[in-house]
Amino acid sequence: MKKVLVTYITHSGTTRDVAEAIAEEIAKTGFEAQVMELGAVKNTNDFDAVVLGAPMIIGWHRNALKYLKSHKAELVTKPLALFLTAMSLTESPKPKMPGIDLHTDQKLVVPPQKPGHIGFKESFTTLKHYLTPVLKAAPTSLKALAFFGGRLDMYRLKWYDALFVMLVVGAKPGEKRNWPDIRAWGASLPALLKLDE
Ligand SMILES: Cc1cc2nc3c(=O)[nH]c(=O)nc-3n(C[C@H](O)[C@H](O)[C@H](O)COP(=O)(O)O)c2cc1C
Repeated sequence: MKKVLVTYITHSGTTRDVAEAIAEEIAKTGFEAQVMELGAVKNTNDFDAVVLGAPMIIGWHRNALKYLKSHKAELVTKPLALFLTAMSLTESPKPKMPGIDLHTDQKLVVPPQKPGHIGFKESFTTLKHYLTPVLKAAPTSLKALAFFGGRLDMYRLKWYDALFVMLVVGAKPGEKRNWPDIRAWGASLPALLKLDE
């Protein structure tokens, strides 16, 4: 049976819960799925495909980007999917990403305040701003990418992080995870990763 690694990075637990839901949905389709924090992953040799999730923490979590860059040679040999958790996503054109399926939770997407014009603050929460470094770091085996709403607990943050999130990201504390959307993407992954072939 083909085995999928669902690995994640988390600041405050949100992305771990999402990874677990995705792994459950993969398992329901008849493939094996193992959830593991990225720090515990020694290598991906035992797996046929990899799913990596991490939150937006002033850009996609830097350890996720670092991992993609430093493990490119290993990751390029198997299909890869990435997911990002975030609190703000401004409606914007998607960057060029041929051959990569992009899913965005439509409940997370907010149109720009001025129709047709991305303002200065909004430019920090566009698809292009978020995805350019990710696409640059990712191996050519990247098949699918998803954006999900996360959860924000201000009381867990250092004051300067809270200030950044409120003022720049414009995110309000709360729960934005859309479980049906997350689970539907998880269920679609075996097809997106071509596990049947
Ligand atoms: C310091 C900090 C920076 C953040 N930056 C962004 C950001 O740029 N864009 C965004 O949409 N959300 C941002 N967020 C919100 C997180 O992505 C969101 O809360 C996520 O669900 C956290 O996941 P975790 O609990 O797995 O760490 C930020 C949160 C923190 C604490």
